[in-house]
Amino acid sequence: MHAPPEHPSPSSARPRARGLVVAVDGPSGSGKSTLCRRTAAALGAGYLDTGAYYRAVCWAALEDGFDLAGASSSAAAGERDHGLDEAVSSLARGLDLRVGTDPERPYVIVRGTDVTAAIRESRISAAVSVVATNLEVRAELIARQRAAIAAQAAQRGVVAEGRDLTTVVAPDAAVRVLVVVDEERRLARRALELHGSADAAAVDRTRDEVVRRDRDDSTVAAFTEAADGVTVLDNSGTLEKGVEALLALVGAALPVRTSSSGAQTAHDQAGARA
Ligand code: DC
Repeated sequence: MHAPPEHPSPSSARPRARGLVVAVDGPSGSGKSTLCRRTAAALGAGYLDTGAYYRAVCWAALEDGFDLAGASSSAAAGERDHGLDEAVSSLARGLDLRVGTDPERPYVIVRGTDVTAAIRESRISAAVSVVATNLEVRAELIARQRAAIAAQAAQRGVVAEGRDLTTVVAPDAAVRVLVVVDEERRLARRALELHGSADAAAVDRTRDEVVRRDRDDSTVAAFTEAADGVTVLDNSGTLEKGVEALLALVGAALPVRTSSSGAQTAHDQAGARA
């Protein structure tokens, strides 16, 4: 005899992470993006890449002809161009920007143009710190990120990542994690991303860039040390191990729902599969 087809009950149709916010911070090259996407997909939750917002504003500013490269070197010398800062923050406030939240297919659309790939180019990576250290830009983008997180959380739960999620954007998140990784592994990951190779020469070239970016980024967001209540997750092992560890933290934070018989349902067990 065939088993009757399963009709999901309203309770089993409910996304299991609904209402949940997972806030993840970490430096560039820590592997947190892949980790967060995979975890969100396993949970059936949304995914939010907050770095993409800063990259998108950077892309639009370059498109509009702002000299961010010049500003990068002045900013590194401790001088800011206030006129430029004001123009870029005004651009950010008015920017038509859409950031996708599907972990399987994240996208970024600026002024109707799909810039998902373009915002990863090295010209953006080189200039984005000037945008991310502009406090007016941060205020605008943080407000947008909070709105996106609230909408996703209400719908299906969300895993959001960046530099200041655990401390500023979503300090009340049920799960707050700082991702750290062995330094050599981090450099190798970045070298592969930036130069297509992780040989000694590529790693050396990457070292300066990573050190500079961390220094610039950490002037506005403290992401190198875990704040109170934030769990440190070492992502130096395999991706599977990282996802398993993050899902275990999520599983511990999810309220256990019980079926009508009072038994805990397998459906309610988060963290069991990646
Ligand atoms: O993670 P990423 O490389 O895509 O980040 C791009 C830039 O934005 C980088 O300079 C760090 C900054 N950033 C930030 O200041 N706050 C965030 N929440 C996310 C990224």
